[in-house]
Amino acid sequence: MKFGSRIISTGLGSPSLKYTNDDLSKIVETNDEWIRTRTGIRERRFIDFEKGETITDLCVRAAEQALERAQLKASDIDLVLTGTISAETFMPNNSARVIGRLGMKGIAGFDLSAACGGFLFALHTANAMIQSGAHKRVMIFGADVLSAALNMKDRTTCVLFGDGAGCAILERVENPDPLKDSMVLGSKIYTDFDATDALTINAGGSRAPTFRHDLHEKHSPYVQMSGQDVFKHAVKGMVHAATELLTELKIPITDVKWFVPHQANLRIIEMTAKYLNFPMDRVFVNIDRWANTSAGTIGIALSEMQEQNKLQKGDLVLIDVFGGGFNYGAALVRW
Ligand SMILES: CC(C)(COP(=O)(O)OP(=O)(O)OC[C@H]1O[C@@H](n2cnc3c(N)ncnc32)[C@H](O)[C@@H]1OP(=O)(O)O)[C@@H](O)C(=O)NCCC(=O)NCCS
Repeated sequence: MKFGSRIISTGLGSPSLKYTNDDLSKIVETNDEWIRTRTGIRERRFIDFEKGETITDLCVRAAEQALERAQLKASDIDLVLTGTISAETFMPNNSARVIGRLGMKGIAGFDLSAACGGFLFALHTANAMIQSGAHKRVMIFGADVLSAALNMKDRTTCVLFGDGAGCAILERVENPDPLKDSMVLGSKIYTDFDATDALTINAGGSRAPTFRHDLHEKHSPYVQMSGQDVFKHAVKGMVHAATELLTELKIPITDVKWFVPHQANLRIIEMTAKYLNFPMDRVFVNIDRWANTSAGTIGIALSEMQEQNKLQKGDLVLIDVFGGGFNYGAALVRW
């Protein structure tokens, strides 16, 4: 292999509002005990929509932190990728807005739509772009503001999600040695079409545009979910992706230092770790403070792990995600 890529930095963008479970219980019929025991969530963060805060603000915060940690300038980046389903606008896309805000010139950026799988799908793409020789240093985001699509009267969905952005910078490694170098060792992504509509946002696209309110009874503009179906698919998908990846790489799970799963529900995380035979004390969990930030979860987790000095050079980090679509996958990174 001529080129590989390694993650050299991470950052996170946090929204300015915080809502505890008790705060939500004043808006919708729910309670802290139900949310905590069913999901592990204690609080979540939402953008301050009224004050004009946007997903671009979150991405710019995450990017600035990642650049500062890597001691790089925005002009050192040659491609921007965003995994998101909640860009400020369809056009311009999120990556274009970030490029504009960071004053980047002469480079490209585009978005990938893979719901909660967004960060991993962007990582997979960035790694392939760097391996191909087309790019040297890629800034990726997993970011979502699902509060824009939450029905705050629907307690079965609105308590589960939060807003947030995670960023990582990937850099070319020349003639990498997969047996010892810091690098992305591999990734696998999958899409199984969700024929049962278990996890959807049905309006806002071209089938039922936002202005066609007459269609919104049939095609909801909100996140809609069949919780138990999604739960089963999530555990199955994440176990499958991680197992296939480790088998292909011929690396036993006992060599993995950290398991960093998508943060959708603590019980999904625990069950996935159990099926993978991985001890919970080396599973990174922050769903209690963030809830499910959709594409945001993995970048935010890696950034917090970097902040807490949990990631040491040489650590094997297994990332595992699942989201609407269904899109799911895993990546193994040597830090
Ligand atoms: C959503 C989820 C937490 C629900 O947990 P569950 O144990 O399956 O709960 P159920 O849906 O069976 O609901 C049980 C009861 O709690 C009630 N309930 C649902 N949401 C509630 C809430 N926020 N507060 C209080 N009660 C609630 C239900 O109405 C139901 O009441 P009933 O028995 O009187 O009908 C769980 O299915 C889940 O996490 N699924 C995966 C969702 C997910 O992660 N999606 C994103 C993937 S990327």
